[in-house]
Amino acid sequence: MLYILVRILDFQSHIHLIYTLIHKRAIKMDVTKPTSCWWVVLVALVIALNLATLCNGGVTSKFVRKVEKSIDMHLESDVFSVPTGYNAPQQVHITQGDHEGKAVIVSWVTMHGPGSNTVEYWIDGNYQKLKANGRVTTYKFYNYTSGFIHHCTISNLKYNTKYHYQVGMGHSVRSFWFMTPPEVGPDVPYTFGLLGDLGQTYDSNKTLTHYELNPTKGQAVLFVGDLSYADNYPDHDNARWDTWARFAERSMAYQPWIWTAGNHEIDFAPEIGETKPFKPFTHRYRTPYKSSGSSSPLWYSIKRASAHIIVLSSYSAYGKYTPQNQWIEEELPRVDRNKTPWLIVLMHSPWYNSYNYHYMEGETMRVMYEPLFVQYKVDMVFSGHVHAYERSERVSNVAYNVINGICTPVSDQSAPIYITIGDGGNIEGLANNMSEPQPKYSAYRETSFGHATLDIKNRTHAYYAWHRNQDGYAVEADSLWVFNRYFHPVDESTSS
Ligand SMILES: *[C@@H]1O[C@H](CO)[C@@H](O)[C@H](O)[C@H]1NC(C)=O
Ligand SMILES: *[C@@H]1O[C@H](CO)[C@@H](O)[C@H](O)[C@H]1NC(C)=O
Ligand SMILES: *[C@@H]1O[C@H](CO)[C@@H](O)[C@H](O)[C@H]1NC(C)=O
Ligand SMILES: *[C@@H]1O[C@H](CO)[C@@H](O)[C@H](O)[C@H]1NC(C)=O
Ligand SMILES: [Fe+2]
Repeated sequence: MLYILVRILDFQSHIHLIYTLIHKRAIKMDVTKPTSCWWVVLVALVIALNLATLCNGGVTSKFVRKVEKSIDMHLESDVFSVPTGYNAPQQVHITQGDHEGKAVIVSWVTMHGPGSNTVEYWIDGNYQKLKANGRVTTYKFYNYTSGFIHHCTISNLKYNTKYHYQVGMGHSVRSFWFMTPPEVGPDVPYTFGLLGDLGQTYDSNKTLTHYELNPTKGQAVLFVGDLSYADNYPDHDNARWDTWARFAERSMAYQPWIWTAGNHEIDFAPEIGETKPFKPFTHRYRTPYKSSGSSSPLWYSIKRASAHIIVLSSYSAYGKYTPQNQWIEEELPRVDRNKTPWLIVLMHSPWYNSYNYHYMEGETMRVMYEPLFVQYKVDMVFSGHVHAYERSERVSNVAYNVINGICTPVSDQSAPIYITIGDGGNIEGLANNMSEPQPKYSAYRETSFGHATLDIKNRTHAYYAWHRNQDGYAVEADSLWVFNRYFHPVDESTSS
């Protein structure tokens, strides 16, 4: 009882409580009398519990979101509307197309025929049009046949330049634009948006709107996996892959989304004869994996401005001797922090997660790769999967070796901050069951939908902020100045 009472009071009220107790007792009683020593014990107890609370460190947000179902937007919703014109390109999206940011992969779907494979593009204000040709692919999934999926890489772009581009032909041409990133360099500012587990509910639409209207303008999205949730429909109704891309086009046609594969991308359904994992995802979404020496589109790296971003696959083999393991062991020594000080890792399944959902699902990968992350001083790791928000302290758990019993995460200034941001708003709803008490490694956690931004300022400082959908667009519910682990490895934690 007393413990619970103490837990719900904040730090100031603890001090006040202790002070009041001492004060009142000192007045009412003669403290030298042996009979009055019970209150000394009480005060000592309160102090001890108070210290225990402080050492616990973490904050479980007091914000309680109304529990209601997340419902997919109905098929006639405005966000799913098909562009006008015969065979008009739809589901337009872009992603980085090379290792350094001088290429862009443009993708789109035409429903009635292959149409044109060509992207026409030009620098803003300069009407000399350039052309690039892409390829078209289709796939079948049970009784669904995809439209014509086009992918076209445009290369040799100028850095930090606004390009217009258009796809389609005749009366169905559609035009978009994007900004290329600045040239890679150690002090180049850049702002990433962070989204995960988005789905296509009314909440998903709110999350995307909040990201778009956030006054901290994200320039590219780091997407931590689980896109459409089409696999929640009977026979993984792949038409919901199409609706999802029509919905997200309003952002992903104008800025690159950097893809991570989640469990909802696996689409493994032997009961309907679909046994090739990641079939819809890999046909629809491309990644520039070859330019980082990877043998699979599911794990790769890119450099963008002052960041080196490594994308891992939680759902591909990662044990010793596997292609992914071999790649990460070669990739980490290649990272040049003097060119890209910020080392960021994306993966779907979190390693440090104190919700009672997907608990310890990331554990086997943590055992494999955490020593590398600490050795190479990864700055931040972003994951999704758990439909809530959580930020960790800088901790590691690398001492354990099966027999020594040293299995508690410890504070470690060479370790990354782990962020779970699977709070995009999908049909499966929120994760609201947390382990109690909040573990020491957990700095902040909250069951709400939202998104985050990572605003890199220079080689030492980045400003990180998480936004919940219930607040105004500018409101930051959790924020932190993040200090670079290579150039400024100072403890930035809020609760130590
Ligand atoms: C989705 O959000 C956009 C932008 O806020 C809005 O215009 C649109 O009506 C919303 N659609 C649905 C179905 O909620
Ligand atoms: C696929 O089969 C399901 C029933 O198994 C049916 O409801 C659906 O309409 C079919 N879809 C197509 C595109 O034929
Ligand atoms: C929360 O999760 C724990 C551990 O899995 C479980 O024992 C408990 O019943 C859950 N509580 C609710 C309210 O679902
Ligand atoms: C890096 O950015 C931070 C935050 O804006 C600023 O305080 C600091 O002075 C900058 N460092 C340098 C070397 O400019
Ligand atoms: Fe997931």
